[in-house]
Amino acid sequence: MESLWLASAPSIATDPFSPGISYDTVVAGAGLTGLTTALLLARRGQKVLVVEARHVGAVTSGNTTAKVSLLQGTRLSSISSHQGPDATRGYVRANRAGQDWLLDFCRQHGIDHDIRTAYTYAVSDQGRQILESELAASLAAGLEVRLTRDTELPFAVTGALELAGQVQIHPLQALAALAAEFRSAGGTLVEGVRVTGTRKSPEHPVQVLTASGSVFARQLVLATGIPVLDRGGYFARLLPLRSYAMAHPVQGGVPQGMYLSIDSPSRSLRTARVGGTEYLISGGNGHAVGRHPHPQALVDDLAAWAVDHFPVAPPAYSWSAQDYEPAAGLPYVGRIPLGEGNIFAATGFNKWGMANAVAAALVVSGEIAPAEDAGAPLERYYESRLSPRDALTVVRDNAEVGLEMIAGWASAMTGTEDGAPPEGQGMVVRRSVKPVGICTVGGKTSRVSAVCPHLGGVLSWNDAEASWDCPLHGSRFAADGELLEGPAVRGLEKP
Ligand SMILES: Cc1cc2nc3c(=O)[nH]c(=O)nc-3n(C[C@H](O)[C@H](O)[C@H](O)COP(=O)(O)OP(=O)(O)OC[C@H]3O[C@@H](n4cnc5c(N)ncnc54)[C@H](O)[C@@H]3O)c2cc1C
Ligand code: FES
Repeated sequence: MESLWLASAPSIATDPFSPGISYDTVVAGAGLTGLTTALLLARRGQKVLVVEARHVGAVTSGNTTAKVSLLQGTRLSSISSHQGPDATRGYVRANRAGQDWLLDFCRQHGIDHDIRTAYTYAVSDQGRQILESELAASLAAGLEVRLTRDTELPFAVTGALELAGQVQIHPLQALAALAAEFRSAGGTLVEGVRVTGTRKSPEHPVQVLTASGSVFARQLVLATGIPVLDRGGYFARLLPLRSYAMAHPVQGGVPQGMYLSIDSPSRSLRTARVGGTEYLISGGNGHAVGRHPHPQALVDDLAAWAVDHFPVAPPAYSWSAQDYEPAAGLPYVGRIPLGEGNIFAATGFNKWGMANAVAAALVVSGEIAPAEDAGAPLERYYESRLSPRDALTVVRDNAEVGLEMIAGWASAMTGTEDGAPPEGQGMVVRRSVKPVGICTVGGKTSRVSAVCPHLGGVLSWNDAEASWDCPLHGSRFAADGELLEGPAVRGLEKP
């Protein structure tokens, strides 16, 4: 699976890794959060290193649907119920700042983008009620949203929220331009180096450990999606959710707005013109990572839905990604607990990271090196409190994680090896007292430990992406055990 964005990515120049060097700030992760933070700091004269475990945009930012919208499904009613109306107004203000910054950046750097009307629509009466709550929360938060029944969709809706003047971008063009300006401002961008830990060194606040050696910094920013290193226990307060997207070549008139459904299964739509071809991008069918038995069925279902409803060809590209739902409703942005004030993180964008990632970068860079022309600080807009209800959600989510752990180990102990799985399939079997994952991909059968190196979850096979996925906190591994993403910092052992 490859996204339209990664398949049409501009080339991005990088630098070699040199261990032993000291920086003002090291940023782990070259997605939208990491590269924007790094550029803002480099523009302010800081010596900055970005260390990316894979390649620029490899994880969520290169596999998003890239709507830079302030109309965000049910986000505002949800934040309002978790954190109250003031926090919701602040969230909108931070997102507006992120959206404005990114739009200016796209205009200045000639990045493909379109201004479109965004819609959140319902097809059921229950969905219509949810829309009405979202309308109330949006208006209270100062967002000029309108309730309508007029959409370009080829089926009846019970209502739709509409917000004009939103943005859709080509995310890899944006990442490439961020990377290029960052390097010309003196920054160093390294790919293929994973941060594996930190230490305190006598001369430097943070020694950043990687498999290729250490570097030193005054600050470390974890822009790694879910924060690695487990300080602050973010993995216990974030639910990893994976969903699917595909780009269909257009064969007739298709909706030009950016659409998202309220009802299940979720459906997202936007268009993109890339290399002279117009595509309709559909997305949806999300689920908790590693907890769906046949993700390929979700991919097939999404492709069939788009072809059934719109004049489009079967998908030319299909892809998948995950983002993290925060228990307290708001993203977590700023200094992490147990980081001694020198380690920052930004996470929990809940599939609305395009404006949030940039807003988070404005917050984190502002805390590290305030800009001279900075307006009102945004940091307090991401201050969340864990209410008793949120704490119960955390307990419930972690109880589910505990049950997944028990169920995974119980079923692994009964699985027996009965020949190689068919092409594209994988299974977990018991070898002695250890679960082992066996899969066949490209005609090759591989065996890996099926125990997640993060905290010991038993992995499940993802038949859509030929990967081993952890149902506990969302780490994912390739068929050969190589680490793809998540809070783990190393790959799977060979049995
Ligand atoms: C299917 C889907 C569709 C979405 N659509 C939209 C949308 O339309 N609009 C919107 O606003 N948002 C959307 N989002 C959300 C948005 O894409 C994300 O919130 C955003 O891209 C997150 O960016 P990031 O830089 O924080 O993380 P990422 O892009 O995941 O970047 C993190 C980087 O850190 C690297 N890394 C990880 N661990 C280490 C380590 N130990 N050392 C070094 N590097 C490391 C990774 O390789 C990765 O490149 C969507 C999300 C999904 C899943
Ligand atoms: S990601 Fe935490 S145990 Fe696998």
